[in-house]
Amino acid sequence: MIQEKSAVSTKHTLKMQMNKMPEFKFKHEDESIRSDSLDILKLGKNLLLKGPTGAGKTRLADDLAANLGQDMVSINCSVDTDMEALLGFKTIEYKEGKQEILFVDGPVVRAMKNGCILYIDEINMAKPEVLPILNAALDYRRTLTNPLTGEEITADGDFLVIAAVNIGYAGTMPMNEALLNRFNIVEIDYVADEALLEILQNQSLQDDKAVLKQLTDFHKDLVTMARQGQISKESSSVRSLLDLSDLSTMIPTERALKRAVIDKLDNEQEKTAIYNAFKLHFE
Ligand SMILES: Nc1ncnc2c1ncn2[C@@H]1O[C@H](COP(=O)(O)OP(=O)(O)O)[C@@H](O)[C@H]1O
Ligand SMILES: [Mg+2]
Repeated sequence: MIQEKSAVSTKHTLKMQMNKMPEFKFKHEDESIRSDSLDILKLGKNLLLKGPTGAGKTRLADDLAANLGQDMVSINCSVDTDMEALLGFKTIEYKEGKQEILFVDGPVVRAMKNGCILYIDEINMAKPEVLPILNAALDYRRTLTNPLTGEEITADGDFLVIAAVNIGYAGTMPMNEALLNRFNIVEIDYVADEALLEILQNQSLQDDKAVLKQLTDFHKDLVTMARQGQISKESSSVRSLLDLSDLSTMIPTERALKRAVIDKLDNEQEKTAIYNAFKLHFE
């Protein structure tokens, strides 16, 4: 353990000593998700968070950045993510009546130069030909040659990378092996125990203890049903539960359920199964 800590950058250590560690909003029954993610980053390694939508990947990344006292620069990948979206683009500026061509650094370049955390969300949504440009930035070289400018960039010592993938989501592609190989993987599944009550207490507008208990008990059933394959995984998303919880402060719970969970689904059997579980806890 002591040996590991020696690899921690001095800047991180200093920042952590100076500031009281901000509390993690990310909660999970599997403590190792949080601690391993933090240790991977403290060792200067790339972290890949793998899990379904609404499982807290972005929340965890935010918490990790806050704990390390670092700014975070985010990219949201899609099929349209191209070199410009990652590295930047040329633009024309007028100075004293003259045209000048300027290059505006994109998120990857800014994060590297400023020693920020680069958060690459839905990395497996990007077209496979775009990402290999990052390979040298992601390994020990921590460098990048910007093909749009020819600039050679060496990352600041604090530059860190967190990526997130949404498994099983339509439109995603398997990650390129060389890219995947550069990451350390932490899998996150939906919270399924007492931690959930804390999450609702911290993040939801609902403060009626009895309703919060009903909501968490109901959610436990959803998690079980999703694990048994009766309903889709996304129906047990913590994000949807937070929506349901917030909506339940303003509109009747049954209608809140329809808006936050049920009407996202097409399958009638699935809708009925969720509705039945709901009635068990709320009637
Ligand atoms: N384990 C968790 N701990 C704390 N908050 C969570 C957790 N899982 C989900 N949330 C909350 O649910 C919402 C969706 O989480 P988010 O991080 O955006 O999910 P993801 O990035 O995995 O799709 C956010 O409001 C987040 O705060
Ligand atoms: Mg996210």
